[in-house]
Amino acid sequence: MRARILGSAAGGGFPQWNCHCPTCEAARSGVGARPRTQSSIAIRGAEGPWFLANASPDLRDQLEGLGAEGVNDVRAAPVAAVLLTDAEIDHAAGLLLLRESSTPIRVYGSDQVRQALTDGYPVLRMLGDYSGVEWRTLEPAHTLSLDGSSLEVESFAAGGDAPRYLEGTGADVEATGLVFRDRSTGGVLTYVPGLARLDDDVLGRLAASDVVLVDGTFWRDDELAQLGISDRTAAQMGHVPLSGPGGTLEVFTGLERPRVILVHINNTNPVLLEDSPEREAVLRAGVEVGYDGLEIEL
Ligand code: MLT
Ligand code: MN
Ligand code: ZN
Repeated sequence: MRARILGSAAGGGFPQWNCHCPTCEAARSGVGARPRTQSSIAIRGAEGPWFLANASPDLRDQLEGLGAEGVNDVRAAPVAAVLLTDAEIDHAAGLLLLRESSTPIRVYGSDQVRQALTDGYPVLRMLGDYSGVEWRTLEPAHTLSLDGSSLEVESFAAGGDAPRYLEGTGADVEATGLVFRDRSTGGVLTYVPGLARLDDDVLGRLAASDVVLVDGTFWRDDELAQLGISDRTAAQMGHVPLSGPGGTLEVFTGLERPRVILVHINNTNPVLLEDSPEREAVLRAGVEVGYDGLEIEL
């Protein structure tokens, strides 16, 4: 299978429009940190079309780089379907950018995500009025074959709370991770851009993967408070930070099989700075810092 990181930044991108934190300023200066678009990957099996996992607000440019091979029609989509890990705005806003399609957009996600994107942030309802939507529910721990592809996908609970637009409604929306398996090669890639839960189920899935594209949102739990940006902690936002006791870096270091690559990296995270001690600590742990355009073949 092949996977390409289309966007390696968290919501807001890097640099973020209104942010003058040290890392955003480095990205603007063009020295010491490379800009990144918002969170999404493309994936395809050894056989079959590309699929999109998460639809970011930067989707138009991201899909342009994907190309469409062997296309003879005037109109042809570069991806066969969209898979959603959650209902966050940075992962779902791009759905509206697919509205020009003359055939229904196939979208996979949990039932909770479908409800959130129908009632809370109704992009599925809106897209339904333009192209139509062909919804496919991903049941946790249930493997589905992706049509026309050698890929299978299985979702699992990754923790975290409902998006902020559902606060106070009592809605329960947990983020998920997606395990992709290629029937023709046996390769296993796990994508989990929002990870709030480090239980045995999650750890077992990471350990049994060849490649893990995983939540690298925050370095510290109090990263935003330290910069005077917000009182919200990483944990409150549904992300286990990388550093410290109980942080993900010590867990990732212990994984023997997979290549581990950070994605969904927030613009405040010092691992984005190429010569920072935090970047060095990540590399020393045997973990890579994802970037837009990184391609993986397995
Ligand atoms: C998240 O990843 O925690 C959310 O996308 C944050 C947000 O943009 O509200
Ligand atoms: Mn996000
Ligand atoms: Zn910033």
